[in-house]
Amino acid sequence: MGFAEMEVPVRFLQIGGGNMGGALLERWVDQLSWSFTVVDPGQPALPEGVEHVPTLNRLAGTAFDALIVAVKPQILDEAVAGLVHHLKPNAPIISIAAGVPCERFEKLIGAHPVIRAMPNMPVKVGQGMSGLVGNSLVTDKIRTQIETLFAPTGHFIWLDDEDAIDRFTAIAGSGPGYVFELLRSYAAAAANLGFSEEQGERMAAQTIKGAIALAMSSDASPEALRNAVTSKNGTTEAGLDVMRREPGFESLLLEGTKAAYDRAVELRA
Ligand SMILES: NC(=O)c1ccc[n+]([C@@H]2O[C@H](COP(=O)([O-])OP(=O)(O)OC[C@H]3O[C@@H](n4cnc5c(N)ncnc54)[C@H](OP(=O)(O)O)[C@@H]3O)[C@@H](O)[C@H]2O)c1
Repeated sequence: MGFAEMEVPVRFLQIGGGNMGGALLERWVDQLSWSFTVVDPGQPALPEGVEHVPTLNRLAGTAFDALIVAVKPQILDEAVAGLVHHLKPNAPIISIAAGVPCERFEKLIGAHPVIRAMPNMPVKVGQGMSGLVGNSLVTDKIRTQIETLFAPTGHFIWLDDEDAIDRFTAIAGSGPGYVFELLRSYAAAAANLGFSEEQGERMAAQTIKGAIALAMSSDASPEALRNAVTSKNGTTEAGLDVMRREPGFESLLLEGTKAAYDRAVELRA
Protein backbone atom coordinates (compact mmCIF):
# COMPACT_ATOMS: atom_id res chain seq x y z
CA MET A 1 0.00 0.00 0.00
CA GLY A 2 1.41 3.44 -0.94
CA PHE A 3 1.05 6.55 1.20
CA ALA A 4 -1.78 7.62 -1.09
CA GLU A 5 -3.93 5.00 0.61
CA MET A 6 -2.84 5.72 4.17
CA GLU A 7 -5.02 7.39 6.73
CA VAL A 8 -4.10 10.99 7.46
CA PRO A 9 -1.86 12.29 8.95
CA VAL A 10 0.80 10.84 6.67
CA ARG A 11 4.17 10.47 8.39
CA PHE A 12 7.29 11.30 6.40
CA LEU A 13 10.82 10.35 7.38
CA GLN A 14 13.48 12.61 5.86
CA ILE A 15 17.20 11.98 5.92
CA GLY A 16 19.21 15.20 5.68
CA GLY A 17 17.90 18.62 6.69
CA GLY A 18 20.51 20.86 5.01
CA ASN A 19 20.13 23.61 2.41
CA MET A 20 17.69 21.96 0.01
CA GLY A 21 16.06 19.54 2.47
CA GLY A 22 15.43 22.47 4.85
CA ALA A 23 14.09 24.73 2.08
CA LEU A 24 11.56 22.09 1.00
CA LEU A 25 10.50 21.48 4.60
CA GLU A 26 9.75 25.17 5.09
CA ARG A 27 7.14 24.99 2.35
CA TRP A 28 5.79 21.58 3.34
CA VAL A 29 5.30 22.41 7.00
CA ASP A 30 3.71 25.73 6.08
CA GLN A 31 1.27 24.33 3.53
CA LEU A 32 0.61 20.65 4.31
CA SER A 33 -0.86 18.86 7.31
CA TRP A 34 1.49 15.86 7.06
CA SER A 35 4.09 15.16 9.74
CA PHE A 36 7.85 15.24 9.11
CA THR A 37 10.67 13.65 11.11
CA VAL A 38 14.24 14.51 10.07
CA VAL A 39 17.28 12.37 10.76
CA ASP A 40 20.42 14.54 10.60
CA PRO A 41 23.50 14.15 12.80
CA GLY A 42 24.15 17.92 12.83
CA GLN A 43 22.13 20.86 14.15
CA PRO A 44 20.06 21.74 11.07
CA ALA A 45 17.90 24.86 11.17
CA LEU A 46 14.50 23.22 10.73
CA PRO A 47 11.11 24.90 10.68
CA GLU A 48 8.94 24.69 13.80
CA GLY A 49 6.85 21.54 13.93
CA VAL A 50 9.48 19.25 12.38
CA GLU A 51 10.74 16.49 14.67
CA HIS A 52 14.54 16.19 14.62
CA VAL A 53 16.53 13.12 15.65
CA PRO A 54 20.32 12.76 15.28
CA THR A 55 20.32 9.04 14.46
CA LEU A 56 17.94 6.38 13.19
CA ASN A 57 18.15 4.32 16.38
CA ARG A 58 16.08 7.04 18.10
CA LEU A 59 13.15 5.91 15.96
CA ALA A 60 12.86 2.34 17.23
CA GLY A 61 9.45 0.86 16.50
CA THR A 62 8.23 3.68 14.24
CA ALA A 63 7.20 2.82 10.68
CA PHE A 64 6.84 5.75 8.28
CA ASP A 65 4.56 6.14 5.26
CA ALA A 66 7.18 7.68 2.97
CA LEU A 67 10.90 8.49 2.89
CA ILE A 68 12.56 11.66 1.62
CA VAL A 69 16.27 11.40 0.82
CA ALA A 70 18.01 14.79 1.04
CA VAL A 71 21.64 13.86 1.78
CA LYS A 72 24.68 14.26 -0.46
CA PRO A 73 25.11 11.28 -2.83
CA GLN A 74 28.55 10.47 -1.35
CA ILE A 75 27.08 9.50 2.04
CA LEU A 76 23.95 7.81 0.75
CA ASP A 77 24.89 4.21 1.62
CA GLU A 78 25.79 5.14 5.20
CA ALA A 79 22.68 7.31 5.61
CA VAL A 80 20.15 4.75 4.41
CA ALA A 81 21.68 1.73 6.20
CA GLY A 82 19.00 0.25 8.46
CA LEU A 83 16.26 2.46 7.07
CA VAL A 84 14.19 -0.38 5.73
CA HIS A 85 13.04 -1.25 9.27
CA HIS A 86 11.48 2.20 9.62
CA LEU A 87 9.39 2.12 6.45
CA LYS A 88 6.00 0.58 5.84
CA PRO A 89 5.99 -2.03 3.08
CA ASN A 90 5.81 -0.30 -0.29
CA ALA A 91 6.40 3.17 1.22
CA PRO A 92 7.42 5.57 -1.57
CA ILE A 93 10.99 6.89 -1.56
CA ILE A 94 11.39 10.47 -2.80
CA SER A 95 15.03 11.27 -3.52
CA ILE A 96 16.51 14.67 -4.37
CA ALA A 97 20.08 13.30 -4.42
CA ALA A 98 21.60 14.42 -7.72
CA GLY A 99 22.77 11.65 -10.01
CA VAL A 100 21.53 8.69 -7.94
CA PRO A 101 19.39 6.38 -10.10
CA CYS A 102 16.16 4.77 -8.85
CA GLU A 103 17.84 1.38 -9.19
CA ARG A 104 20.31 2.25 -6.44
CA PHE A 105 17.45 2.63 -3.93
CA GLU A 106 15.90 -0.63 -5.07
CA LYS A 107 19.27 -2.28 -4.29
CA LEU A 108 19.78 -0.48 -0.96
CA ILE A 109 16.24 -0.54 0.42
CA GLY A 110 14.28 -3.06 -1.67
CA ALA A 111 11.37 -2.95 -4.11
CA HIS A 112 9.67 0.35 -3.26
CA PRO A 113 8.15 3.02 -5.51
CA VAL A 114 10.99 5.51 -6.09
CA ILE A 115 10.54 9.08 -7.27
CA ARG A 116 13.62 11.10 -8.23
CA ALA A 117 12.98 14.79 -7.84
CA MET A 118 15.26 17.63 -8.90
CA PRO A 119 14.12 20.84 -7.22
CA ASN A 120 15.88 24.18 -7.51
CA MET A 121 16.55 26.71 -4.76
CA PRO A 122 13.59 29.08 -5.43
CA VAL A 123 11.43 26.38 -3.76
CA LYS A 124 12.36 28.40 -0.67
CA VAL A 125 9.90 31.10 -1.77
CA GLY A 126 7.39 28.77 -3.44
CA GLN A 127 8.79 29.59 -6.90
CA GLY A 128 10.76 26.43 -7.57
CA MET A 129 10.97 24.46 -10.79
CA SER A 130 11.21 20.74 -10.06
CA GLY A 131 11.62 17.77 -12.39
CA LEU A 132 10.14 14.41 -11.32
CA VAL A 133 10.57 10.87 -12.60
CA GLY A 134 9.33 7.63 -11.06
CA ASN A 135 10.22 3.94 -11.33
CA SER A 136 7.73 1.32 -12.54
CA LEU A 137 6.23 0.85 -9.04
CA VAL A 138 4.88 4.42 -8.91
CA THR A 139 1.10 4.21 -9.32
CA ASP A 140 -1.22 7.00 -10.46
CA LYS A 141 -2.32 7.48 -6.83
CA ILE A 142 1.25 7.93 -5.67
CA ARG A 143 1.88 10.40 -8.51
CA THR A 144 -1.09 12.42 -7.29
CA GLN A 145 0.30 12.47 -3.73
CA ILE A 146 3.74 13.51 -5.01
CA GLU A 147 2.07 16.35 -6.89
CA THR A 148 0.39 17.43 -3.64
CA LEU A 149 3.82 17.35 -1.97
CA PHE A 150 5.49 19.48 -4.66
CA ALA A 151 2.64 21.93 -5.30
CA PRO A 152 3.58 24.22 -2.34
CA THR A 153 7.16 24.43 -3.65
CA GLY A 154 6.29 26.01 -7.02
CA HIS A 155 6.06 24.35 -10.43
CA PHE A 156 6.97 20.79 -11.40
CA ILE A 157 7.00 18.60 -14.49
CA TRP A 158 7.07 14.83 -14.87
CA LEU A 159 9.92 13.68 -17.08
CA ASP A 160 10.07 10.58 -19.27
CA ASP A 161 13.22 8.93 -18.00
CA GLU A 162 16.21 9.34 -15.72
CA ASP A 163 18.43 10.82 -18.42
CA ALA A 164 15.90 13.65 -18.62
CA ILE A 165 16.54 14.36 -14.90
CA ASP A 166 20.22 15.00 -15.70
CA ARG A 167 19.25 17.24 -18.63
CA PHE A 168 16.71 19.01 -16.39
CA THR A 169 19.44 19.50 -13.76
CA ALA A 170 21.61 21.27 -16.35
CA ILE A 171 18.80 23.70 -17.17
CA ALA A 172 16.68 24.21 -14.03
CA GLY A 173 18.55 22.59 -11.12
CA SER A 174 21.71 24.59 -11.78
CA GLY A 175 19.73 27.45 -13.35
CA PRO A 176 19.50 29.73 -10.30
CA GLY A 177 23.31 29.78 -10.26
CA TYR A 178 23.35 31.07 -13.85
CA VAL A 179 20.72 33.70 -13.06
CA PHE A 180 22.59 34.89 -9.95
CA GLU A 181 25.71 35.25 -12.11
CA LEU A 182 23.70 37.24 -14.67
CA LEU A 183 22.37 39.43 -11.86
CA ARG A 184 25.87 40.00 -10.51
CA SER A 185 27.24 40.87 -13.96
CA TYR A 186 24.30 43.16 -14.69
CA ALA A 187 24.84 45.03 -11.41
CA ALA A 188 28.58 45.32 -12.21
CA ALA A 189 27.62 46.83 -15.59
CA ALA A 190 25.44 49.38 -13.78
CA ALA A 191 28.36 50.25 -11.49
CA ASN A 192 30.51 50.73 -14.61
CA LEU A 193 28.05 53.41 -15.71
CA GLY A 194 28.38 55.20 -12.39
CA PHE A 195 25.62 53.74 -10.20
CA SER A 196 26.16 52.64 -6.61
CA GLU A 197 26.22 48.90 -5.82
CA GLU A 198 22.81 49.17 -4.17
CA GLN A 199 21.24 51.07 -7.06
CA GLY A 200 22.80 48.72 -9.61
CA GLU A 201 21.58 45.55 -7.87
CA ARG A 202 18.08 46.98 -7.51
CA MET A 203 17.89 48.10 -11.15
CA ALA A 204 19.23 44.81 -12.43
CA ALA A 205 16.99 42.62 -10.23
CA GLN A 206 13.80 44.54 -10.93
CA THR A 207 14.54 44.74 -14.67
CA ILE A 208 15.01 40.95 -14.82
CA LYS A 209 11.96 40.32 -12.62
CA GLY A 210 9.75 42.74 -14.57
CA ALA A 211 10.78 41.41 -17.99
CA ILE A 212 10.20 37.79 -16.87
CA ALA A 213 6.80 38.68 -15.35
CA LEU A 214 5.82 40.32 -18.64
CA ALA A 215 7.03 37.35 -20.69
CA MET A 216 5.16 34.88 -18.45
CA SER A 217 1.92 36.86 -18.68
CA SER A 218 2.13 37.16 -22.48
CA ASP A 219 1.46 34.74 -25.33
CA ALA A 220 4.16 36.42 -27.43
CA SER A 221 7.45 34.55 -28.04
CA PRO A 222 10.65 35.83 -26.37
CA GLU A 223 11.81 36.87 -29.85
CA ALA A 224 8.64 38.91 -30.49
CA LEU A 225 8.92 40.54 -27.06
CA ARG A 226 12.57 41.41 -27.70
CA ASN A 227 11.70 42.90 -31.09
CA ALA A 228 8.91 44.96 -29.52
CA VAL A 229 11.40 46.76 -27.26
CA THR A 230 14.15 47.13 -29.90
CA SER A 231 13.81 50.17 -32.16
CA LYS A 232 15.90 50.41 -35.30
CA ASN A 233 19.16 52.24 -34.47
CA GLY A 234 18.03 52.73 -30.87
CA THR A 235 19.77 52.11 -27.54
CA THR A 236 18.56 48.50 -27.07
CA GLU A 237 19.76 47.57 -30.54
CA ALA A 238 23.16 49.11 -29.81
CA GLY A 239 23.44 46.99 -26.65
CA LEU A 240 22.16 43.79 -28.28
CA ASP A 241 24.52 44.16 -31.26
CA VAL A 242 27.43 43.79 -28.86
CA MET A 243 25.83 41.03 -26.76
CA ARG A 244 25.16 38.93 -29.87
CA ARG A 245 28.80 38.98 -30.99
CA GLU A 246 30.20 35.47 -30.71
CA PRO A 247 30.30 33.96 -28.19
CA GLY A 248 27.03 35.72 -27.31
CA PHE A 249 24.35 34.78 -24.75
CA GLU A 250 23.00 31.93 -26.84
CA SER A 251 26.35 30.25 -27.49
CA LEU A 252 27.36 30.62 -23.85
CA LEU A 253 24.11 29.08 -22.65
CA LEU A 254 24.32 26.23 -25.15
CA GLU A 255 27.88 25.42 -24.13
CA GLY A 256 27.36 26.05 -20.41
CA THR A 257 24.26 23.86 -20.08
CA LYS A 258 25.91 21.11 -22.15
CA ALA A 259 28.90 21.21 -19.77
CA ALA A 260 26.50 20.95 -16.79
CA TYR A 261 24.74 17.96 -18.39
CA ASP A 262 28.08 16.26 -19.16
CA ARG A 263 29.08 16.74 -15.52
CA ALA A 264 25.76 15.26 -14.33
CA VAL A 265 26.45 12.20 -16.48
CA GLU A 266 29.98 11.91 -15.02
CA LEU A 267 28.56 12.11 -11.49
CA ARG A 268 25.96 9.37 -12.03
CA ALA A 269 26.43 7.01 -9.12
N1 LIG B 1 21.40 22.69 -3.01
C1 LIG B 1 20.73 22.62 -4.15
O1 LIG B 1 20.47 23.61 -4.86
C2 LIG B 1 20.21 21.27 -4.61
C3 LIG B 1 19.35 21.21 -5.71
C4 LIG B 1 18.81 19.97 -6.08
C5 LIG B 1 19.19 18.81 -5.42
N2 LIG B 1 20.07 18.89 -4.39
C6 LIG B 1 20.44 17.64 -3.73
O2 LIG B 1 20.02 17.70 -2.40
C7 LIG B 1 20.85 16.89 -1.60
C8 LIG B 1 21.24 17.67 -0.37
O3 LIG B 1 21.93 18.86 -0.80
P1 LIG B 1 22.08 20.11 0.16
O4 LIG B 1 22.56 21.23 -0.68
O5 LIG B 1 20.83 20.26 0.97
O6 LIG B 1 23.28 19.55 1.08
P2 LIG B 1 23.59 19.91 2.60
O7 LIG B 1 23.22 21.32 2.89
O8 LIG B 1 25.00 19.44 2.85
O9 LIG B 1 22.57 18.98 3.40
C9 LIG B 1 22.78 17.60 3.66
C10 LIG B 1 22.44 17.36 5.13
O10 LIG B 1 22.57 15.95 5.40
C11 LIG B 1 23.21 15.82 6.66
N3 LIG B 1 23.81 14.50 6.83
C12 LIG B 1 25.12 14.14 6.74
N4 LIG B 1 25.25 12.82 7.01
C13 LIG B 1 23.99 12.34 7.28
C14 LIG B 1 23.47 11.05 7.64
N5 LIG B 1 24.27 9.97 7.75
N6 LIG B 1 22.14 10.93 7.86
C15 LIG B 1 21.33 12.00 7.73
N7 LIG B 1 21.75 13.25 7.40
C16 LIG B 1 23.08 13.41 7.17
C17 LIG B 1 24.22 16.94 6.63
O11 LIG B 1 24.71 17.20 7.92
P3 LIG B 1 26.21 17.85 8.06
O12 LIG B 1 26.14 19.19 7.40
O13 LIG B 1 26.39 17.92 9.54
O14 LIG B 1 27.14 16.92 7.35
C18 LIG B 1 23.37 18.10 6.07
O15 LIG B 1 22.61 18.74 7.10
C19 LIG B 1 22.06 16.49 -2.45
O16 LIG B 1 21.95 15.12 -2.81
C20 LIG B 1 21.94 17.36 -3.67
O17 LIG B 1 22.35 16.66 -4.83
C21 LIG B 1 20.57 20.10 -3.95
